[in-house]
Amino acid sequence: MRSSIALAVSASTIWIRQAFCATVGRIEYNAAPPNLSHLFNSSLFYTWRPRSHVLPPNGQIGDPCMHYTDPSTGLFHVGYLHTGAAGATTSDLVRYTDLNTDPTFIRSGGINDPVAVFDGSVIPYGINGTPTLLYTSVSYLPIQWTIPYTKGSETQSLAVTYDGGKNFTELKEGPVIPGPPFPVTNVTGFRDPYVFQSPQLDRIANSTNGTWYTVISGGIHGQGPSQFLFRQYDADYRDWEYLGQWWHEAANSSWGDGTWAGRWGYNFEVGNVFTLNHEGYSNSTDAEFFTTLGAEWSEAPIIPQVSQFREMLWASGNVSSSPNGSVHFEPTMAGKLDWGVFAYAAAGKLLPATSQASKHSGTTVDRFIIYLWLTNDNFGTSAFPTVQQGWSSTLTTVRELSKGTISNVMNDYLVAGPASWRIASQDKSAGTVELVTLNQTIAREVRAAFISNATRTITEPGRTISASASGYGNTSSDLNFAESPSSKFFMLTTTLHFPGAARNATDLKAGLRILSSEHESTSIYYQFANESLIIDRSNSSAAAATTLGILSNNEAGRLRLFNIASGSANGSSSIESLALTIVVDNSVVEVYANDRFVLSTWVWSWYDESTEINFLHEGSTAVRFDDVVVYEGLVDAWPARP
Ligand SMILES: *[C@@H]1O[C@H](CO)[C@@H](O)[C@H](O)[C@H]1NC(C)=O
Ligand SMILES: *[C@@H]1O[C@H](CO)[C@@H](O)[C@H](O)[C@H]1NC(C)=O
Ligand SMILES: *[C@@H]1O[C@H](CO)[C@@H](O)[C@H](O)[C@H]1NC(C)=O
Ligand SMILES: *[C@@H]1O[C@H](CO)[C@@H](O)[C@H](O)[C@H]1NC(C)=O
Ligand SMILES: *[C@@H]1O[C@H](CO)[C@@H](O)[C@H](O)[C@H]1NC(C)=O
Ligand SMILES: *[C@@H]1O[C@H](CO)[C@@H](O)[C@H](O)[C@H]1NC(C)=O
Ligand SMILES: *[C@@H]1O[C@H](CO)[C@@H](O)[C@H](O)[C@H]1NC(C)=O
Ligand SMILES: *[C@@H]1O[C@H](CO)[C@@H](O)[C@H](O)[C@H]1NC(C)=O
Ligand SMILES: *[C@@H]1O[C@H](CO)[C@@H](O)[C@H](O)[C@H]1NC(C)=O
Ligand SMILES: *[C@@H]1O[C@H](CO)[C@@H](O)[C@H](O)[C@H]1NC(C)=O
Ligand SMILES: *[C@@H]1O[C@H](CO)[C@@H](O)[C@H](O)[C@H]1NC(C)=O
Ligand SMILES: *[C@@H]1O[C@H](CO)[C@@H](O)[C@H](O)[C@H]1NC(C)=O
Repeated sequence: MRSSIALAVSASTIWIRQAFCATVGRIEYNAAPPNLSHLFNSSLFYTWRPRSHVLPPNGQIGDPCMHYTDPSTGLFHVGYLHTGAAGATTSDLVRYTDLNTDPTFIRSGGINDPVAVFDGSVIPYGINGTPTLLYTSVSYLPIQWTIPYTKGSETQSLAVTYDGGKNFTELKEGPVIPGPPFPVTNVTGFRDPYVFQSPQLDRIANSTNGTWYTVISGGIHGQGPSQFLFRQYDADYRDWEYLGQWWHEAANSSWGDGTWAGRWGYNFEVGNVFTLNHEGYSNSTDAEFFTTLGAEWSEAPIIPQVSQFREMLWASGNVSSSPNGSVHFEPTMAGKLDWGVFAYAAAGKLLPATSQASKHSGTTVDRFIIYLWLTNDNFGTSAFPTVQQGWSSTLTTVRELSKGTISNVMNDYLVAGPASWRIASQDKSAGTVELVTLNQTIAREVRAAFISNATRTITEPGRTISASASGYGNTSSDLNFAESPSSKFFMLTTTLHFPGAARNATDLKAGLRILSSEHESTSIYYQFANESLIIDRSNSSAAAATTLGILSNNEAGRLRLFNIASGSANGSSSIESLALTIVVDNSVVEVYANDRFVLSTWVWSWYDESTEINFLHEGSTAVRFDDVVVYEGLVDAWPARP
């Protein structure tokens, strides 16, 4: 659904008329907000709009998908569901150009997809050497894991582009994967085909070198979620050979007790499969298989009509084959790709070293980059003032993934699994282990641009904050930043150091308060009590009191800080530091920690003056904050847009 932008708007003040009275007025960001649901369509267009994120010119964004690097231009195409699917290109991952004025490149309404186009993925050098899209073509709705499956509702079809990706034309033939293979036909879902190549899988499955594979996400009623694996059969991708459920989990089961990776749920969605080594995407022998997946589940024993919970997960594991030719994925570690409850539907793609972005940044390795969807109306279930805003939801900042390493970790009670890491090696004499996990960082080009393009860089002196200065609720002067940004667009970095006593300090909270004023503030802090990083949104927005759908629930994610060996002979250790990067792009707040934790959410601060930053410290243990820098300004991701 898209809504048109009817009014001339400026960033700070917007003329509006209350819906139920004829008075012409102005939105005041220095006074308490009215009920925002009563404002004119699109009158809040700029109030919370991010500058540096990927989102369409207006209207709604859904799942990211259908990304690729065009081999003929080196441009990276980022795609997303919109009305059909739409997209943009980028030569640096920082600035984007819409594919068309209306950025749509494929619409539903064809013979295979009379009702909808769902997620798909692109073979960059496909049929006749052109980018070729394999996507879910939808013929019947509703589709939900909680209700019986309508046969034929989700099929997988092809479309190709002849004009550089501005338009993908559906092939005049039936679906190439017409449905789930007999006898596993009573599925909970069968969608989101993700195409990939893998020399490792070629060896394991005895395939011709360079074969394309696709995983299709879903599950089986009464059994649980699955990824179904297929292999290309012919040069034109017309037929796909079924290799079985390469991954299946029991319904409503979890990885370990669920602490690190939530629940597998009942139905998988948006599965991606790729191989990573320490540098990024790789198909060499040191690379391991990773998958990212959405898991759907619910609490209620009486199955509801919609999924209550969605979790955005990753897993890494071993791949093996059976003599009967089937191939199996067995997780060895799993975690949350993003802990934010509104972050979902990640879609990634190989970004080759030959891409323009990599050439411009001097990146000589292949990378795997991902975008997630961040819904601002809780997947359509909350009453957010969407028509007043004129747009809905966004993608998250692009990240690059690699196999991460945590070295010199004490081999103590903290390293035991199953968890979102595994022990890669052990040094018995030092009493340490090396852990591997999924490394996630902001794409290097974007991070560099946030730094180099800052309009103001604020360096706050480091300090040790002790119990006497504490004040989670009040603003003790020791906790104030000397200088705060004057806008709601910045990246903040800092590193927190904890003494050993912090490990079992049940009262310790340490972090930052952002988007703060006398009226509003958002607290971001770590606490050892439950090893959690929390974003407290209870006082984030004055609009929460006047308007439905301005959600104020806390967001929380689990992060374990290990004991790291000091390297001295006596076997001493210290708690791993907490390296935080916080991106605030108006209402989008993303918290990255230690290259292995991300929590993305929305903070709808209302007042213009809510830009202060303070340290946050509570409890009886001193914490040292170092390298505190605020890069204000971010970048304009859409220079060509009006
Ligand atoms: C406001 O948007 C809604 C939903 O798109 C639409 O039905 C309505 O006609 C619009 N109102 C005006 C005055 O344009
Ligand atoms: C793509 O091209 C076809 C054929 O010219 C046209 O019918 C269709 O509307 C175009 N699709 C989009 C999304 O513009
Ligand atoms: C396939 O690739 C492997 C290396 O991954 C190579 O050893 C083998 O010779 C190749 N096979 C063919 C038929 O090209
Ligand atoms: C394997 O990786 C190399 C280098 O990253 C790349 O050139 C090659 O195309 C990859 N092969 C496949 C089949 O993906
Ligand atoms: C499919 O599973 C659903 C839910 O368990 C069940 O109600 C339905 O009867 C099954 N349909 C078939 C054809 O087995
Ligand atoms: C799934 O498992 C969780 C955790 O044990 C439980 O709370 C929930 O009720 C279960 N869901 C159903 C539908 O049984
Ligand atoms: C994965 O492979 C490694 C190395 O072969 C092996 O030690 C481990 O037990 C396997 N794990 C699973 C879960 O299959
Ligand atoms: C691959 O070929 C080998 C040797 O012919 C055979 O033992 C193995 O079972 C085959 N694997 C698969 C997955 O077909
Ligand atoms: C994570 O990846 C980034 C980018 O490749 C790298 O700079 C960093 O050192 C890695 N961190 C860990 C813990 O592996
Ligand atoms: C913290 O508690 C754990 C578990 O009770 C204990 O093993 C550890 O020695 C304690 N650490 C410190 C620094 O007190
Ligand atoms: C704001 O307006 C909406 C729509 O009229 C209404 O449902 C809601 O109750 C109002 N909110 C408050 C806090 O009055
Ligand atoms: C970076 O800053 C320069 C100078 O202010 C500006 O011209 C350019 O558009 C900015 N780039 C982005 C991506 O915002």
